[in-house]
Amino acid sequence: MTSPRRAPGGFPVVGIIGGGQLARMCAGPAAELGVTLSVLAEADDASAALVVPSSPVGDHTEAEEVHAFAQHCDVVTFDHEHVPPHVLDLLVAEGVELHPHPAALRFAQDKLAMRERLTGLGVPCPRWVRTDTAADVTAFGDAVGWPVVAKTPRGGYDGKGVRVVADAGELTAWLERAASEGSGLLLEERVSFRRELAVLVARSPSGQAAAWPVVETVQTDGICTEVIAPAPGLDAGLSADAVHAALRVAGELDVTGVLAVELFEVEAVDGRASFVVNELAMRPHNSGHWSMDGAVTGQFEQHLRAVLDLPLGSPRPHDRWTVMANVLGGELPDLYPAYRHVMARDPEAKVHMYGKGVRPGRKIGHVNISGDDLADLRERAAHAAGYIQGVVTE
Ligand SMILES: Nc1ncnc2c1ncn2[C@@H]1O[C@H](COP(=O)(O)OP(=O)(O)OP(=O)(O)O)[C@@H](O)[C@H]1O
Ligand SMILES: [Mg+2]
Repeated sequence: MTSPRRAPGGFPVVGIIGGGQLARMCAGPAAELGVTLSVLAEADDASAALVVPSSPVGDHTEAEEVHAFAQHCDVVTFDHEHVPPHVLDLLVAEGVELHPHPAALRFAQDKLAMRERLTGLGVPCPRWVRTDTAADVTAFGDAVGWPVVAKTPRGGYDGKGVRVVADAGELTAWLERAASEGSGLLLEERVSFRRELAVLVARSPSGQAAAWPVVETVQTDGICTEVIAPAPGLDAGLSADAVHAALRVAGELDVTGVLAVELFEVEAVDGRASFVVNELAMRPHNSGHWSMDGAVTGQFEQHLRAVLDLPLGSPRPHDRWTVMANVLGGELPDLYPAYRHVMARDPEAKVHMYGKGVRPGRKIGHVNISGDDLADLRERAAHAAGYIQGVVTE
């Protein structure tokens, strides 16, 4: 693999494993900071490969390929959590500086490990159990109430690997696979949440941490479609508890870089507004895209600062509200023609597209809009995203 061209002046090279939109959106801040990125991409037309000159194509499950890539980087971080443990182990053994460290990353890679660890820390979680038998599923469902939520511990994203089931019979194939692979399945009570929230924090190897305000995330068919920053009408005590929990998780797990903690807001317990944790992600996260335009320091810049152990930037929001609407792939293959209308209609809309081919339901971009009138911002963000997607036509 050829090495990335280093900028003069002693600036580092940050390697990112995975060439998706999260790696791509680090490119702007990296360019501004004079930091060189190098991306281990799935293909030469991967989202990040289209904008990062040093984007060797390689397989993140092949230890030798990942190691060859890491040789040219000062620190290495991740676009996704799918790098297998044996590859991570080799990188650690070879002295590659990984952020987050695999000992932390485990808890974002494996939902069963995450549940065990958070429960051990006393962080509120839905009731859960590890299982690979139909008898356990039935006993759990009878105890917590049907339906229950089944999750494959590894490899899920955008709701893939998550199923709501009304009886054990619906899980036969998953249980057989879990038993034969020895992986187990995660079963959770179905939480009747008031809404979904997320807390995003960044933590550096020196232990400095910074938190953005708690946001509300809206999922449609298991995919995040909208984020409102900060979460409207959020109880101040819940907000403080949630930020405290996220900072504590970051510290206890020794997370470096950005950590997202997905939450369910639930009915108050003993008069105190409450949440349970859904899951963790240790990388920039969809719930933080608003910060690119809505905060003094966006999550992609902050992630770079954190993995380089630089002092963190202020996470303070610029405006009262920022709304982010995701652009999902629809029927229209041509996206650019929509720009003329979207930009003319709303000069305040900030459009971010990922250079990805259109597939129905795939995240291909997002729109941020900030201001004072939340209902108006939501309508405008949804309109712009929907217009690019082709579901809004006027
Ligand atoms: N225990 C639960 N009770 C109710 N709804 C749940 C539960 N677990 C998950 N969900 C719903 O399913 C969505 C996806 O679940 P989860 O975040 O575990 O999956 P994922 O595929 O890893 O997600 P991501 O889109 O964050 O990659 C959640 O955002 C939530 O809407
Ligand atoms: Mg999730």
